[in-house]
Parts: sequence; structure tokens; C-alpha cells
Amino acid sequence: MSKAAADRRIHWRSEPHQGDIAAVRDIVASSGFFNAEEIDVAMELVQERLGRGAASGYHFIFAEADGKMVGYACYGPIAGTHSSFDLYWVAVHQSGRRGGLGREIMARAEAAIAQAGGTRIYVETSSRPQYEPTRNFYLRIGYRQDALLADFYGPGDGKVIYVKVLPGRRAD
Ligand SMILES: CC(C)(COP(=O)(O)OP(=O)(O)OC[C@H]1O[C@@H](n2cnc3c(N)ncnc32)[C@H](O)[C@@H]1OP(=O)(O)O)[C@@H](O)C(=O)NCCC(=O)NCCS
Repeated sequence: MSKAAADRRIHWRSEPHQGDIAAVRDIVASSGFFNAEEIDVAMELVQERLGRGAASGYHFIFAEADGKMVGYACYGPIAGTHSSFDLYWVAVHQSGRRGGLGREIMARAEAAIAQAGGTRIYVETSSRPQYEPTRNFYLRIGYRQDALLADFYGPGDGKVIYVKVLPGRRAD
């Protein structure tokens, strides 16, 4: 257990509950920079998982402190690839940032992906200045920029794609 987790007595789980939809909304909204549509998408991923189970392709790591969700990640295999996974979302409640929790959540997601046979993890974000902290976070935890799709989201708003290559267990 990391110092961050020990300090906060984090309880970890991966099975979503109905109440997680509202908890995810609160965490994602707390950042102040996701719009209403993006917040809806974050909630829909939990809804999809609750409705369709693992077949939804959405997998979660939830971090709770004192019974309240304080951060989470959502990931899943990329259809049509050998062993690549997407990291769809990672967020830590505004009140608990910069204490190592985001790093710990990602480490647990990466371990679960490796356990499932994944070897490459992709994550994408915007190139806008507002997302610099997010890009810095990915770089600090060992992701490297693999592509920049200029103007992808809109004029002057590109998509930056990061990757982390995990040690493969398969002979490929
Ligand atoms: C990105 C996010 C998950 C980071 O969580 P966190 O718990 O604050 O991050 P950690 O404390 O584990 O930091 C891990 C590393 O990232 C760096 N980092 C984290 N936030 C940063 C920031 N705002 N600016 C610069 N660096 C940052 C830390 O310095 C740390 O590096 P170090 O250990 O080498 O010093 C959190 O800020 C967040 O939820 N942001 C809003 C949602 C978001 O952008 N999600 C990603 C897109 S889906």
C-alpha cells in the first residue's frame, strides 16, 4: 500500500454500484473543466457497465475514503486489437488532489490491465492549455506522447495521444 492510500485508509473495489453514477458525476464535476456533455458521458460508462456487466467493455477502479468515492478510473480493451487497452477516464475529487491518489489509481488500473493480458495502454486528452496539468500527470506517471492530431476537437484544439507499454506476457 502506498503512503497516500495508507494515510487516507483507501478502500478499493472494481464492481460498480448504482450509487456510483452520482459519485462519478460529483468527482468529474468537481474539476470545473468538464462540460455537461462530458460529465454525462462519464456517468453513462458506469450505467453501461451496470446494465451489461463485463460485456460492456468498461472496467473500473474505485477509491473510497470513509465510504465516499474520492477517485476512479475507467478502462477497457480496444476491440480489433491484439492487446491494447483504452484508459477512458481517470479523476480524483478536487479536494483530494496532489496527494498521490491519481498515481495509485493508475497503478492499480495498469496492474488489472496487465492481469487481463493487456500490453499497451492508450490515453488521450486535449492539447489546449487548460489540460496542461492532465498532460503533465500522464508524463509524470510514465506515459509518453505517441501522436498529436492537430485541430482534432476544433480549431487550435488537438488530440494528444499517450501510450504506456507494459511488459508483455505473450510471445508477440
Ligand atoms: C489528473 C488527476 C487524476 C491527477 O490526480 P492526483 O491525485 O492529483 O495526482 P497525483 O497526486 O497522483 O500526481 C501524480 C503526478 O502527476 C503530477 N501532477 C498531478 N497533478 C498535477 C497538476 N495539476 N499539475 C502538474 N503536475 C501534476 C504530480 O506532480 C505527480 O508527479 P510527481 O509524483 O512526480 O510529483 C487529477 O488532477 C484530476 O482528476 N484531474 C481532472 C480530471 C482529469 O483531467 N482527468 C484526466 C482526463 S480523463
